[in-house]
Amino acid sequence: MTSAKPNQWTAIILAAGQGKRMNSPLPKVLHPVAGIPLVARMVQSCRAAGAGEIRMVVGFAQNLVRQVIEPLGVLFFEQAKMLGTADAVKSAKPDDLEGLVVLLNGDHPLVSATDIKDLLQDFKNSSFDIAVVSTELENPAEFGRIIRQGTKLQAIVEAKDASADTLKIKEISTGIYICQAKALNELLPLVEANNAQKEFYITDIIQLGNAHGKNTGVLKAKTHVAFGVNTQAQLADANKFAYKNKAVELMNQGVTILDPDSVYIEEAVQIGQGSVIYPGAFIKGQTKIGSFTVLEPNVFILESLIGNSCQIRAGSYLEKAQVGDQSLIGPYARLRPETVLAGENQIGNFVELKKVHFGKNSKAAHLSYLGDALVGENVNIGCGTITCNYATDHKKYRTEIGSNVFVGSDTQFVAPVKIGDGAVIGSGSTITKDVPAGALAVARGKQVIKENYQPKVDSKKENKS
Ligand code: UD1
Ligand code: MG
Repeated sequence: MTSAKPNQWTAIILAAGQGKRMNSPLPKVLHPVAGIPLVARMVQSCRAAGAGEIRMVVGFAQNLVRQVIEPLGVLFFEQAKMLGTADAVKSAKPDDLEGLVVLLNGDHPLVSATDIKDLLQDFKNSSFDIAVVSTELENPAEFGRIIRQGTKLQAIVEAKDASADTLKIKEISTGIYICQAKALNELLPLVEANNAQKEFYITDIIQLGNAHGKNTGVLKAKTHVAFGVNTQAQLADANKFAYKNKAVELMNQGVTILDPDSVYIEEAVQIGQGSVIYPGAFIKGQTKIGSFTVLEPNVFILESLIGNSCQIRAGSYLEKAQVGDQSLIGPYARLRPETVLAGENQIGNFVELKKVHFGKNSKAAHLSYLGDALVGENVNIGCGTITCNYATDHKKYRTEIGSNVFVGSDTQFVAPVKIGDGAVIGSGSTITKDVPAGALAVARGKQVIKENYQPKVDSKKENKS
């Protein structure tokens, strides 16, 4: 059952551990970095680097991990007990594999497809049967140390098993290995658990390889490849790295970012040249923003399409919304899913829109709730307007407003209701019936004037006070 094609390779991602040092109820590998779970990042990088098959070893909270990762099309293998990294590799049943196998830890979120491609190329240029990927760190802390004799790789020694002299070595194992499947399968059964942790360490395949006539060696990678997440502080660092990378990429493409350390833009987001991003912008998912658009401080934008020359003012919250060119949103506006603004719209402070379509040049400048509504072009929605879309039968009803309609302030539309083109709604109206085109509708209590009115005075109360 070999599924890898000759020029492809197989990835085995180890993701069975709990991640105790995270102190979190969520399995470590599901914690997101810039919106994508740690282990999903590794899957994406492997796939983009051309992996023929991706095998993932799961154990702790595996039902949840499988559920989240399933859509990415990986093959899951269960590690029944956490007996160490070599046992985890064994659980992935590599004995049916041919060609190259790449072993990776699921908790290294910064490994890119380019890193993997470069390493595979280096491996192909070498004559190694097994290679460990190393880098040098100023503070190598708990990483496995690379032991060489001269230049020749001898072994990897875990920090927990290392002598004081070994701990001084700055070249460490990133936990990534590239192996000929045949050599891996020959050595795996030989790994024993004779170390401080009484675990089966994958690190041992180097020493075993050397002892069994295999050609072992080291491939060098950049330091970010070694970056593993074991604690919440490291997770925060990984997020910082990913967001900063994205900000730098956008700046290189011509986006102005006032403070690249304080914007949080996920990798899939696209922003056009000449746009300006103020601090505190949080932009998620498949959001696309055009050119010359300004995002003021602290905007939250999820899965939205924003056109050219828009201004999204401070504190606005957009979720699955579409904003046409030259629109002005906020400050403090809320655009909920299925809001579509055709362009040249103004949605002002404390306006909430949900499932609303606005034609060109229509405005709702202050303090309104509009839900399940179709609004034509050149409509002015006065301050305090509400579409009463939710009825006692727990169903939602639509309000349809034509073009060139003027809606006076403090109007309620009790849906379902239709307002014809060019109609005028008097301020303070509660509209329960359709209004024909060109009509004026006023639905409020009439003003009463009583001339020279003297309020009655209670003489007893007056005396007491
Ligand atoms: C491991 C390496 C170390 C390397 C470091 C790089 C070993 C023994 N140590 O240490 O040399 O420098 O990574 O970050 O290999 N896992 C399982 N099943 C297990 C144990 C672990 O699936 O039984 C998974 C974990 O979920 C994790 C990965 O393997 O994704 C690495 O385990 P972890 O405990 O984080 O090892 P490190 O101490 O980081
Ligand atoms: Mg680790």
